[in-house]
Amino acid sequence: MNIAIDGPGGSGKSVLAKNIAKKLGLVYVDTGALYRSVGLYSLEHGIARTDREAIIKTLDDITVELRYENGEQHVYLCGVDVGDRIRTPDASMYASAVSALPEVRAFLDKIQRDMVARGGVVMDGRDIGTVIMPDADVKIFLFASPEHRARRRYEELLSKGQNVDYESVLADIVERDRADRERDTAPAIPADDAVMLDNSGFEPADTFAAAIHIINEKTNGSYSDVL
Ligand code: DC
Repeated sequence: MNIAIDGPGGSGKSVLAKNIAKKLGLVYVDTGALYRSVGLYSLEHGIARTDREAIIKTLDDITVELRYENGEQHVYLCGVDVGDRIRTPDASMYASAVSALPEVRAFLDKIQRDMVARGGVVMDGRDIGTVIMPDADVKIFLFASPEHRARRRYEELLSKGQNVDYESVLADIVERDRADRERDTAPAIPADDAVMLDNSGFEPADTFAAAIHIINEKTNGSYSDVL
């Protein structure tokens, strides 16, 4: 059983994927954290987001590794756990920039495919249903209005003690949506066979219930006792 959850930033993919993983006994793989880690390296080495050549060169110096500790995913960049350093607004914009480069996508491809090969995963990202797991048993494309997503992201950053304002969070979301959707390689668009789920105004529990409903429909009711 493999589940793909794609969708734009702030749509609640990671909360949903974590809840599904816990209830269904699957391994949660947050693929955005991989792009964030590659972006963080450039950010912390003073490389401009627009400097494609320099970003591609960093791949010779970088190792990225996924480890599971107490059931939680940790990303190790050059042997060091990146922790929450990948979650700042700057790191988000760098993640989006590096993710547009085919070389970076190819670099991160193997780690993701190794996880798929182990089986029993719920993976979230942008190209999971289209590129990484085209044969996933269930594909969900989760989205919400930019304002709903910005509000969630804003509150999440505030709760982590970051000094942000709503308007700039919204502007970043709109800019990142555009860049992720319009890039040439693996654009963030739904797979033809993905089920579209608009969770504007939903609480996480509503999104979870809607997703379990979709999973049940796709698997002939295998999880009808979950809710
Ligand atoms: O899901 P996230 O916000 O953590 O992702 C960060 C960035 O990484 C996002 O702007 C697009 C990119 N990304 C991607 O291109 N492909 C993925 N599978 C996951 C993330």
